[in-house]
Amino acid sequence: HPHIAYRGQDLFIEDLPVSALAQAHGTPLFVYSQASMQSALAAYQRGFAGRQVQICYAMKANSSLALLQFFARQGCGFDIVSGGELERVLAAGGDASKVIFSGVGKTRAEMQQALQAGILCFNVESEAELEVLNDVAVAMGTQAPISIRVNPNVDPKTHPYISTGLKGNKFGVAHERALATYQRAAALPGIRVTGIDCHIGSQITDATPYLDAADRVLDLIEAIEAAGIAIHHIDFGGGLGINYNGDTPPAADDLWHQLLAKMDARGFGDRQFLIEPGRSLVGNAGLCVTQVLYLKPGEEKNFCIVDAAMNDLPRPAMYQAFHGIVPLQARAETPQVYDVVGPVCESGDWLGRDRTLAVHEGDHLAVLSAGAYCMSMSSNYNTRGRAAEVLVSGHSAHLIRERETAADTFRGEKLLPAAPL
Ligand code: LLP
Repeated sequence: HPHIAYRGQDLFIEDLPVSALAQAHGTPLFVYSQASMQSALAAYQRGFAGRQVQICYAMKANSSLALLQFFARQGCGFDIVSGGELERVLAAGGDASKVIFSGVGKTRAEMQQALQAGILCFNVESEAELEVLNDVAVAMGTQAPISIRVNPNVDPKTHPYISTGLKGNKFGVAHERALATYQRAAALPGIRVTGIDCHIGSQITDATPYLDAADRVLDLIEAIEAAGIAIHHIDFGGGLGINYNGDTPPAADDLWHQLLAKMDARGFGDRQFLIEPGRSLVGNAGLCVTQVLYLKPGEEKNFCIVDAAMNDLPRPAMYQAFHGIVPLQARAETPQVYDVVGPVCESGDWLGRDRTLAVHEGDHLAVLSAGAYCMSMSSNYNTRGRAAEVLVSGHSAHLIRERETAADTFRGEKLLPAAPL
């Protein structure tokens, strides 16, 4: 990671030693590199040079306001999955007209809210949702712009490198139902068909499933347009993977050169494109700094107990995901093998297993690749306040989220009334 690297013995993020940030703000602490996000975004922009594209950052990956503001300033729109995410976009100064709304369970209230805000497109995920969206739009005297999320049925078995994706799938409309669903949509007074959408999974590290999905989607567009329904934009979703542990995903520009070559060859290269990248824009821009509380040697395992836990970084506990763990200050000592675990009262509360580390109590470690799906998936389990967050650019650091206090975590809770219930 070019923006997160050692200079001598010290880990730096851009031009700042990470240990100085830990000193100033305490731990656990998420730190993000703005240059890293910028260069991840630039790779997509290069890939689409000369094309009509709207990049809609999938904000579920990390929805902290300052990051949203950064992406909004770069011209990005947002892929949202709730009314709450829409409120975040607006609070960060994002443009509702660049927002697309995905998700299988949109409520009527969320549909209303999004129509009022004037979003770009609803990615409709079922025939039932289409009918409800039509009702809501008609009642508001408007039309909802939609694309239908189609499930292109790319066989995940032939592509085992898709770590999340198409298994027994609640997402999207089956390929075989897509044309009929578009015909229904075209007949509904509260619906305006604008595009087609697909998203085939996450942490994809090979171009092949994208190319296969593209062929299936383009076949569908041909069939839908032959039925007299115009498809103005093609939304290819997100899903491009990052390097956690020697993974070798294609670069965003390489992937899109390949995909756009296919679009050109089939005569679709001049369409409007939308994409919904999340992890690949922020994942490797972030790290989580944690302090070693105790070393606990054992007969079978040595434990390195740190002050970050599964509530801060749920991916290892939830998916047995690998995140690199490195010291902020390298020690020239014989390392030992540890399980790096947090203070939460669960055996599943681990951040890394069998890691070779030279550490002392009080040392600081960085959990790497922690920009995506860490803070946004964090919780208050064990009444642990959420970590603070800092954004770094060059020599500057800016606190973008205060550490949550215990009182913050129970704000909104009510004690019993004076009289017994
Ligand atoms: N669009 C849709 C409709 C999605 O469902 C997702 C992610 C994205 C875009 C963004 O995908 P990305 O570019 O980030 O791969 N919590 C899991 C990942 C869940 C992904 C959910 N959908 C993890 O930590 O690995």
